[in-house]
Amino acid sequence: MSAVIVVGTQWGDEGKGKIIDFLSEQANMVVRHQGGNNAGHTVVSGDREYKLHLIPSGILYPDTDCVIASGVVVDPRVLLDEVDYLHQRGIQTDRLRVSSEAHLIMPYHLVFDSLAEDRLGSQKLGTTLRGVGPAYMDKASRMGVRIGDLLQPEVFRDRLSRVLAEKNHLLSKAYGRDEFDFDAMFTQYLAYGEAMKPYIANTSVIINQAIDAGRRVLFEGAQGTMLDIDHGTYPFVTSSHPIAGGACIGAGVGPTKIDQVYGVVKAYTSRVGDGPFPSELLDSVGDGIREEGHEYGTTTGRPRRIGWLDTVVLRHASRVNGLTGLAVTRLDVLDRLDTLKVAVAYRYGGDVVTELPDSLERLSSVEPVYETMQGWQRSITEVRRLEDLPSAARRYLDRIAELAEVPLALVSVGRERTSTITLQPLF
Ligand code: GDP
Ligand code: IMO
Ligand code: MG
Repeated sequence: MSAVIVVGTQWGDEGKGKIIDFLSEQANMVVRHQGGNNAGHTVVSGDREYKLHLIPSGILYPDTDCVIASGVVVDPRVLLDEVDYLHQRGIQTDRLRVSSEAHLIMPYHLVFDSLAEDRLGSQKLGTTLRGVGPAYMDKASRMGVRIGDLLQPEVFRDRLSRVLAEKNHLLSKAYGRDEFDFDAMFTQYLAYGEAMKPYIANTSVIINQAIDAGRRVLFEGAQGTMLDIDHGTYPFVTSSHPIAGGACIGAGVGPTKIDQVYGVVKAYTSRVGDGPFPSELLDSVGDGIREEGHEYGTTTGRPRRIGWLDTVVLRHASRVNGLTGLAVTRLDVLDRLDTLKVAVAYRYGGDVVTELPDSLERLSSVEPVYETMQGWQRSITEVRRLEDLPSAARRYLDRIAELAEVPLALVSVGRERTSTITLQPLF
């Protein structure tokens, strides 16, 4: 099997970076296909920790090709800084390719991200303020600038002059803000284009050629299913498609080419940013998990909201992604608890529902129905075989798979690459 998609099943930060890094050892190519540097993927290898926002987590392996495909929005300054960050750590980036079709995050996108959040006040979304939403807005309204434009100065000049006139008008007339200087932005972005030139390519062709040649291609999802613009908790979502179908769109690959879809499931739930979260823990148990798990955002440093595992969410993720296997992460973070809870349904009015409500208002007022399970109260970080896990931990995992109706593929019991239990061949 050659093409495998890895998605987040919750609200992001499930541990996708760790899982992709683990799988990358067997992969020939790793592809990022949506989102931008709103993502923060942490990879721990030996005594080194890497935080990646744009470049696929496979970059740490010297023989793995890495692709930033057309569906990603790219802040060129962040990309070039990330390339430098890797070079300083002795990691080469000559195997990186970036789509000429990918849209650019421009300086005004960051300003509009902040302005929109400020104007929403207490209704704010809690975005990462990286300009990702405004860049996707411009893409959809045919006002975007793409990476390939930077390689054709006259095309870029024409495009930027039209777009910037519109943005400056809005900034000065609607918001009373300073306008951006055309020449400075033009020169700066042409320089970015020059610096990115060795990486720029027609990535849909490259990815499809790899799959057709039987090479192992991994698609690295960013964000999570509940942040999907159509299938998440709209409007408290990101502006792209973190679900599996988004990989086909963003990479330019047909769905018939995909062999497996793994869903990364944190053994409890976290959410950074605003919006409904039925199984949220606002008590000392939640605080304890946050501290035990160092649950602070990789991108923004914000404390993550914490809750019990929610299998209504997980079943929704299984359906909209067509999951073929689960990768459960951070099981070790629950080591100290004497009991655990799992949300198995929601109470809404007088009814018990098992499917995720398709209205934000209803989702905001449901009460989770919990099943209580025994904790294992011993360290499991050193365990490498399923049968060596404490029986309570195995029961917890089995129950997750049963409720999700998706088999377990992999269990992560620590941050390290090696702290991983595999249950089936992954490719
Ligand atoms: P991503 O956005 O889905 O890639 O996740 P993040 O990197 O933002 O956050 C996940 C955090 O959990 C990172 O700090 C990882 O190093 C860490 N992590 C991943 N898997 C495990 C695990 O099984 N146990 C523990 N303790 N930490 C983990
Ligand atoms: P990874 O890939 C967690 C959240 C933000 C906010 C909402 C919209 O590390 O899992 P945006 O800046 O995208 O317009 O913000 O989405 N968000 C994430 N939350 N992990 C992420 O990425 C996220 N990327 C965006 O906090 O609620
Ligand atoms: Mg993250």
